Amino acid sequence: MSKTSKLCLAKWRLWITSLLFCITAADVRYSVPEETKTKYVIGSLSKDLNLDSNRLRFRKARLDYQGDKRYCEVDLDSGNLFVSERIDREMLCGTTSPCLLHFEFVLENPLELHNVVLEVQDINDNSPVFPKDSIKLEISEAAPTGSKLQIARARDLDVGMNSVQTYILSQNKHFVVDTKSNKDRYVDIVLKNSLDRETKAEHSLILSAVDGGNPPKSGTVVIEVFVIDVNDNAPVFSQPLYDTRLSENAALGTSVMKITATDVDEGANGQITYYINHLSDNTKELFKIDEHSGEISVIGHLDHEKSSSYEMEVQAEDGGGQTGHCKVVIEIDDVNDNAPVISVKSLKNQIPENIPPGSEIAVINVKDQDSGENSRVSCSIPTSLPFQLQPYIKSYFIITTTRSLDREQIENYNVTITATDGGTPTLHSNITLNIQVSDINDNSPTFELQTYAVYVSENNKPGTSVCSVSANDPDWRQNGTVLYSLVPSEVNGVPVSSFLSINGDTGVIHAVRSFDYEQFRNFTVKVVARDNGSPPLSSNVTVKVFITDENDNSPQILYPVPDGKSLMTEMVPKATLSGSLVSKVIAVDADSGQNAWLSYQIVKSTDPGLFSIG
Ligand SMILES: *[C@@H]1O[C@H](CO)[C@@H](O)[C@H](O)[C@H]1NC(C)=O
Ligand SMILES: *[C@@H]1O[C@H](CO)[C@@H](O)[C@H](O)[C@H]1NC(C)=O
Ligand SMILES: *[C@@H]1O[C@H](CO)[C@@H](O)[C@H](O)[C@H]1NC(C)=O
Repeated sequence: MSKTSKLCLAKWRLWITSLLFCITAADVRYSVPEETKTKYVIGSLSKDLNLDSNRLRFRKARLDYQGDKRYCEVDLDSGNLFVSERIDREMLCGTTSPCLLHFEFVLENPLELHNVVLEVQDINDNSPVFPKDSIKLEISEAAPTGSKLQIARARDLDVGMNSVQTYILSQNKHFVVDTKSNKDRYVDIVLKNSLDRETKAEHSLILSAVDGGNPPKSGTVVIEVFVIDVNDNAPVFSQPLYDTRLSENAALGTSVMKITATDVDEGANGQITYYINHLSDNTKELFKIDEHSGEISVIGHLDHEKSSSYEMEVQAEDGGGQTGHCKVVIEIDDVNDNAPVISVKSLKNQIPENIPPGSEIAVINVKDQDSGENSRVSCSIPTSLPFQLQPYIKSYFIITTTRSLDREQIENYNVTITATDGGTPTLHSNITLNIQVSDINDNSPTFELQTYAVYVSENNKPGTSVCSVSANDPDWRQNGTVLYSLVPSEVNGVPVSSFLSINGDTGVIHAVRSFDYEQFRNFTVKVVARDNGSPPLSSNVTVKVFITDENDNSPQILYPVPDGKSLMTEMVPKATLSGSLVSKVIAVDADSGQNAWLSYQIVKSTDPGLFSIG
C-alpha cells in the first residue's frame, strides 16, 4: 500500500469514528480495565473531541460525575482522560454488565458539554466463593447410586468468563459432581458407587469452583459426608465353632467360655444379645448364656456318664433383628466319680463239700461308668480263702475253688470281692458273697470210746439201763444222725438180744433180763452206730459186759452132809488134848470173792467151852 493510500485510510477511519460519535450524541466512549493504577491514561479527550489542548485550562475544562468518587480526571495540559482512583467493577456494577460510568465533560467559552461513557471492563480479580467453607452432609449407606446431594453454588463477583465456569470434585470413589441440572442455585453431588459405612463412615470431599479467567481463579468448599448406618450387617461370630473341655465336676456357676460376635453396624444396629438355641432339653438345664456378655456358664450338674459332650447353637441378634449363629461343643471330661459296680451274674451259693478243686462257683461282672483310666478296674478276693478270682472275658471274672472243702471244718465262707478303679484317687467297692458248703455224708459215726466195759450187778431188774454208748457224726442232719443197734450174735447159744437191747436213738443199753453171775460172768456185744445218710456210713464198737457178783448164795455145808435132820456123830478119844482136831466142817458158797469167803462159828453147844471152831 502507498503512503498516500495509508493516510487516506487513517483519515477514513477517523471519519467513521467521528460519525459514530455523532450518532451517539457526540459522546465519547472509552473502556478501561478495572483495578488499573492511577494515572492510567484511558484516552485523549482533546484528540477525540477535536479540542485544542492548549486552550483547555482557559476553557475551564472539567469532568463531572454524579457520585462521591470521581474515578477519572482530565489532564488539562494534555487533554488525556486518566484514572484518578481505584475502579472496582464489582463494587460499581456488581453483576451488571456492561459496567458503564457516565461522565460529563464540560468546557466554557464557549460552553460545550460532552457525554463521556466509560466502560469498566472486568478483570478476573475475584475468586469463586462458596457460601460456607465447609458443609456437613449425611447420607444413608443404603442410598442408591444416582442419589444427589445439593451444594449451594459458588459465587464469583466477576462476570462473564471471569465468573464460575466449572466445578471440580476431588478424586474419590463414590461421588461425582453434576453441574448440568439446577444450573442457577445448586451443584449436585451424585452418588456414583454405593456406600458402606462399615468400610468408610466419613467421606471428605473438596469441591472447587473454577472461573474462566486467565489465569483462572478458584474457590473451594470442604464437604464432609457422613454415612448413616443401616442395619446391613448381621452379627458375626469370631469362630464358626467353639470347642472347649470341661470337667464333669464343674461347680454351678462355672464359666465355660465366652463367645463373641461383632456387628459392624452402629448403635442399636450393632448391639448384640446372645441366646442359646437349645437342641435338646438336657442342655437347657445345664448351660446358660449371658445375654450381653456371651459368657456361657454351668447351671446344672454335669455327668460325663450321661453325656460326654454337648452341642448347642448360639445365636447373636442385633437391635435390628439380624442374626448370626455359631456352634458350641462342650466336651465333658471324666472325673473319677463312680466307684466300680460289682454285680453277681451267677452264683452257686451252696456248694457240696466234695466239689472238685477248680470248680466254677460264681461269675462276676464289674463295671465302672467312668471312662479311660478311671474305669480300669482291678478285682480281687482274699488269698486266704480256698477260692480264686480270675479274669474271664472283658469285665467278667469267675471265682473257682482252689482246693477241697470240708463242711465239717468251715461250713460257710464270706468271700469279699474288692474292685478298685484306676483313678486318682482310686475308688473301690466291695461285695460279700456268702457261700454255704453243703453236706456230703463223708463222716462215719465215731464212738467216744474204742471199747466199752460195762459192769452189771447180777440180779438186776430186767429193763434197767446198764450203760450208754455214744457215737459222733459231724455230718449234717440225717447224714449226721446216728442210729444205734446191736450186732446180732449169740451168748452161750442164746441171741444177745435176749440179754440186752439198745435204744436206737440214745444209745442207752438196757438189760433185757436179770443176770446171774453164777451162770456167766461176762459177754461181749457189738454195737453199730449208723448214720441216716444214703448210703449210710457206720462203725462198730465192742461193749464188754461184766456181771458182778452179789451175795445171793448162802454157804452150803458139804460135810457133814446135811441130809435130813440127823445129827452127825463124831468120836473123840477121852483124853484128847485141848486143841486137837475133832472134825472138819466143809462148806462152799456159789458166790465169789468176799461173798464166798466163809467163816464158821458154833451157834449152839451143850458145853460151850469144850469145842471151838476155826
Ligand atoms: C458271714 O457273714 C454272715 C453275715 O454277716 C455272718 O452271719 C457269718 O457268720 C459270716 N461267716 C463267716 C464264716 O464269717
Ligand atoms: C447228706 O449227704 C448226701 C450225699 O452223701 C447229700 O446228697 C444230702 O444232701 C446230705 N443231706 C443233708 C441234709 O445235707
Ligand atoms: C465192725 O468193724 C470192723 C472194722 O471196722 C469191720 O471189719 C466189721 O465188718 C464190722 N462189723 C459189723 C458187724 O459191722
